[in-house]
Amino acid sequence: MSETSGVMSEDVLVELRDVKVHFPIKKGVVLDRTVGHVYAVDGVSLSIQRGETYGLVGESGCGKSTLGRAVLRLEKPTGGEVVFDGTDLSGMKGEELRKMRQRMQMVFQDPLSSLDPRQSVESLLVEGMRAHGLADDKASTDKRLRELLDAVGLPPTALRKYPHEFSGGQRQRVGIARALSVGPELVVADEPVSALDVSVQAQVLNLLEDLQEEFGLTYLVIAHDLAVVRHIADRVGVMYLGGIVEESTSDDLYGQPLHPYSKALLSAVPVPDPQVEDGREQILLTGDLPSPANPPSGCRFHTRCPWRQEERCDTERPALREIGAGHRVACHFAEEIRDGELQPRSTPEAAAPTA
Ligand SMILES: Nc1ncnc2c1ncn2[C@@H]1O[C@H](COP(=O)(O)OP(=O)(O)O)[C@@H](O)[C@H]1O
Ligand code: SF4
Ligand SMILES: [Mg+2]
Repeated sequence: MSETSGVMSEDVLVELRDVKVHFPIKKGVVLDRTVGHVYAVDGVSLSIQRGETYGLVGESGCGKSTLGRAVLRLEKPTGGEVVFDGTDLSGMKGEELRKMRQRMQMVFQDPLSSLDPRQSVESLLVEGMRAHGLADDKASTDKRLRELLDAVGLPPTALRKYPHEFSGGQRQRVGIARALSVGPELVVADEPVSALDVSVQAQVLNLLEDLQEEFGLTYLVIAHDLAVVRHIADRVGVMYLGGIVEESTSDDLYGQPLHPYSKALLSAVPVPDPQVEDGREQILLTGDLPSPANPPSGCRFHTRCPWRQEERCDTERPALREIGAGHRVACHFAEEIRDGELQPRSTPEAAAPTA
């Protein structure tokens, strides 16, 4: 299996090589025995170009947040390498890691729970800057605070306020300002708009896009909502039970998803065009998401896949392989499914559309 991702160039900022994050499941208060593992992230290889937005999607519990945390080395990988700008972070610690962290920041889903309610916005912003020696002189700190607020679209008066005094959207602007306060190159945004009203989501996504341009940022945007990622991402990775099952440009993925799981996810999203909507094939997944503590053998999707072929799918884990330019798919039968040589086991809802 090749380690290289679809798109490869000199300017890779983040590269993950076979990254694994397994959480031990402990039992017993005294002996604290490890009785198993949650395979939250289990062998992910991908790369993110400088200046690009990489979107990560998948159902809740599939390991997106854990992967995001591993990229920032907030989670120590059980295996594999996390390479940031040419340096492997997986064994890094202490001061060295702290310095590196200035270059990578996180924006969280719920700004209220990630911001200390007793701190004013000014103190929240200065705190991060001070930790990295960026708030030593008062005049330049004040100037920087004003610039930050201006960049995220908040008035200077916001500095004296507390998180609860803001609306959800404004609070997320504070969260973004805090991430930007130390001048990062990479921002991992984990469900950045999931807690916001739909009407506010687009504003915050547009802000993220503007800031990317202004500051030359690289983004890893994590969302369970496919619509969010479609809007903002250049490339998208679809995760299922700890692994990437498909990766391509956003246009290719939304235009022609090739992995059965991506097909199912996308078929659940309504299409605005009624003609397309009517002729569309709905793929219903049977069964629940299996537990990452006990993932299925072979292809992890085989317990729910309408295209599953006996033996091979149940026993052999498919590699993520390139089947079109920059389009990687982890399915033994991706070509046959794409070319219509294999038909899904039909459910009543999946009746063939009339062309
Ligand atoms: N610190 C932890 N200890 C044990 N299990 C964890 C921990 N963090 C996450 N998990 C488990 O790992 C799996 C993936 O979680 P997560 O990365 O949060 O998924 P997602 O963000 O896609 O919803 C879940 O089963 C979750 O319960
Ligand atoms: S490898 Fe088999 S079970 Fe897995 S997605 Fe492809 S067809 Fe379905
Ligand atoms: Mg999550």
